[in-house]
Amino acid sequence: MARRKKVYEGKAKILYEGPEPGTLIQYFKDDGGTVTAPKPGAQTEGKGVLNNRLSEFFMSGLNSIGVPTHFIRRLNMREQLVRMVEIIPIEVVVRNFAAGPLSQRLGIPEGTALPRPIVEYYYKDEKLGDPMVAEEHIIAFGWAGQQDLDDMVALALRVNDFLSGVMMGVGIRLADFRIEIGRIWEGDFMRLIVADEISPDSCRLWDMRAAERAEGMPASDPGPLADVYTELARRLGVLPSNVTHSPKPTLIN
Ligand code: C5P
Repeated sequence: MARRKKVYEGKAKILYEGPEPGTLIQYFKDDGGTVTAPKPGAQTEGKGVLNNRLSEFFMSGLNSIGVPTHFIRRLNMREQLVRMVEIIPIEVVVRNFAAGPLSQRLGIPEGTALPRPIVEYYYKDEKLGDPMVAEEHIIAFGWAGQQDLDDMVALALRVNDFLSGVMMGVGIRLADFRIEIGRIWEGDFMRLIVADEISPDSCRLWDMRAAERAEGMPASDPGPLADVYTELARRLGVLPSNVTHSPKPTLIN
């Protein structure tokens, strides 16, 4: 029996060679927590199954409104077929509300609505702790060109509009999120598309309904979403009926 070739393994995902040239299989593991609520070394049973579904939901939604992504189709409970891209080594973060390091650095209270979505760049290098960089660094060090940056901002803002709207529809506030962007070549033409995953691992989500329920608490003061993977999947209606967050997920296809 032939063994498939592993191309890359990260904290939360493994990439295998795909069935056709230019494709990869993206496998979702249960490892790790969200970046905003990290659980080092932790395993959240069923997280990979839910993130596979959630990323499918968001990426196919983006594809259907003309925002190009690497997602082709889901293969099974933990795997999806994606287009192979040349990843730009920059994480693009979009912020709608102040939180985390932005609040700390600039002294803006958590939860403050920002005057407009703010786009930030972080250089992808774990050893350096993914440091924040400016457009100047990106262009000077050749990580991306000016045209790429313009396209990256446009993509990130379209993703923000889509995700914010979808989340708002189910009572969730999208405080901020991160995406990765890759290059694909079509003949002589290069295009930028959204890659990696879109899931609670890369979003900061606040529960608007919890705030509405809590007596005396203004709706503008939402708390974090409890059991974020299951709750988000449940509200979006993408929770596979026989998969719960805890015991062993069962294979349904
Ligand atoms: O921690 P910070 O506020 O800078 O994170 C901003 C957003 O980017 C959060 O939604 C977080 O989940 C995401 N992020 C990520 N991967 C990282 C760093 C941040 O997905 N390495």
